[in-house]
Amino acid sequence: MENIIFKTQNSNDTIAVCSFDENIEKDFSKIEDKLSPQELSDIKNIRNELFRRQKMAGRVILNNLLGETGRIEYDQHGKPHLKSHFFDISFSHCKDRVAVMLSKKTSGIDVQDVTPRIRKIVHKYMNQPELVSLTDETYDTHATLYWCAKEALYKAYGERQLIFRDNIIVEPFYFIPGSGTFNGSIVLNNSKKDFVLKYEIIGIFALVYLWNE
Ligand SMILES: CC(C)(COP(=O)(O)OP(=O)(O)OC[C@H]1O[C@@H](n2cnc3c(N)ncnc32)[C@H](O)[C@@H]1OP(=O)(O)O)[C@@H](O)C(=O)NCCC(=O)NCCS
Repeated sequence: MENIIFKTQNSNDTIAVCSFDENIEKDFSKIEDKLSPQELSDIKNIRNELFRRQKMAGRVILNNLLGETGRIEYDQHGKPHLKSHFFDISFSHCKDRVAVMLSKKTSGIDVQDVTPRIRKIVHKYMNQPELVSLTDETYDTHATLYWCAKEALYKAYGERQLIFRDNIIVEPFYFIPGSGTFNGSIVLNNSKKDFVLKYEIIGIFALVYLWNE
C-alpha cells in the first residue's frame, strides 16, 4: 500500500511523494495487465526486492495521478518518457519512498535522506560560490539540497555528459527550514537554461523539484 506524504501542484506541474510497504506488490498486480509486456518484464525481473517495489510504487502512484495506467519507455540515457500522455515525467526513490513529478513543461525531481555522509563528496559536485553559502549549523541539509537540485536538473536534461560542478549551477541560496524556492541552470556549449526549483524538508529527507508556475 502507498501513503501520500507530500503532494503539490500548479497549473503545469504535479508532484507526489509516497511511502509504501510490502503490499505494494498487490497494488501493482491490479495494474500490471495494462502495462506493455516489456514494461512488465523489466519490473518483474528486478531481483532486488526493494528496487522492484520502488519501481512498482512509482507505477502505482503514476496510475493514481493519471487516473489510468501510463505507458513508459526509457531512452538510451535511462530517461523515462511517458508515451501515453503529454506530460514530461520524472521519478526518484529513496528507501521506502517514491517521488513522481508530471509536468506540461519540464520535470525533474529528487529525494534523498539527509546524512553527514554528504560531507565526503561536496567538493565533487559543488562549485566555490555554492560551497561558501553553506554554514556549520545547517551544513548537511543545505548540502543535500544542492545535491538533490543537481540530480533534479540532471534528470530534466536527461543526457549523461553533464558535469555536476561545471554544467549544473545552483544560484547560492540561504537555507530556511521547511521549504523554499531557488534557481538553477544548465550551462553547456555556450548556452544557459534557467529553472526555478523548490525544496521541502520532510522529516529526515530532502525533496527538490522543478517548479514551472
Ligand atoms: C540517473 C541518476 C540521476 C539517478 O539518480 P539516483 O539518485 O541514483 O536515483 P533516483 O531514485 O533519484 O532516480 C532514479 C530515477 O532516475 C531516472 N533516470 C535515470 N536516468 C535518467 C536520465 N538520464 N534522465 C532522467 N531521468 C533518469 C529513472 O526514472 C529512475 O527511476 P525509475 O527507474 O523508477 O524510472 C543518477 O544515478 C546519476 O547518474 N546521476 C548523475 C551521475 C553524476 O554525474 N554524478 C556526478 C556526481 S559528482
